Amino acid sequence: MTVFTISLHWLTALLVITLFGTSQIWGFFARGTPLRLGLISFHISLGILLSAVLILRIVWRLSTHRRTAPAVSGLQHVVATAVHLLLYALMISQVSYGFLMRWASGNLPSFFGLFSVPPLVVVDPATRHVISELHDLTGWAIIAVAGIHAAAALLHHYVLRDRVLLRMMPARG
Ligand code: HEM
Ligand code: HEM
Repeated sequence: MTVFTISLHWLTALLVITLFGTSQIWGFFARGTPLRLGLISFHISLGILLSAVLILRIVWRLSTHRRTAPAVSGLQHVVATAVHLLLYALMISQVSYGFLMRWASGNLPSFFGLFSVPPLVVVDPATRHVISELHDLTGWAIIAVAGIHAAAALLHHYVLRDRVLLRMMPARG
């Protein structure tokens, strides 16, 4: 695999884990406190970065026609590809809910205070609550599916002893 594919993969993983982590931490701080507001702003800024990385990844994957590890059997190939597509679908939904939530509240998502993302669609403020529930649920779903995905990669490496995990490692991919 190319260095670019590998970098995009680990950057995505790092961003998703940090986004989920920040969302679980700010609940410990009272509403309106600078720390809580700061964590939420950081979450949104990283979310905007993840959106850009996702667009780049999808364009990259479609243009390179990359396929899942050729070393694995037919069924493993189908399952792995299905899990990867599910992760892409969940991540696309999740960032979309994030933007819709902010546009619904009229509070535009800002990237580290440098620029804000203007509303691309009109969102009824009354739907904010439902979108926020979906965003919370999907966040947990991503962590669950990514956990299974990571466990499968470790299983390949330590139990099946094939090169699937090494493909995602620098220099050896
Ligand atoms: C994979 C990406 C993401 C994950 C895993 C994630 C995860 C979460 C979770 C679990 C919550 C609920 C926290 C709670 O219990 O209240 C949350 C809240 C939120 N997220 Fe995300 N998120 C992601 C991307 C984004 C993006 C792209 C945006 C904005 C553009 C965003 C904006 C927000 C906002 C505004 C809240 C509510 C903050 C508040 O309580 O006022 N998120 N996120
Ligand atoms: C939040 C965390 C993660 C997300 C969202 C994620 C997402 C993805 C996606 C979408 C792909 C498909 C790449 C493509 O071909 O387009 C992929 C491939 C892969 N991931 Fe992850 N991943 C995460 C964490 C991990 C971890 C922790 C490991 C290792 C322990 C791992 C190991 C792999 C491997 C080995 C492949 C390549 C499989 C192949 O050869 O096709 N991933 N990941």
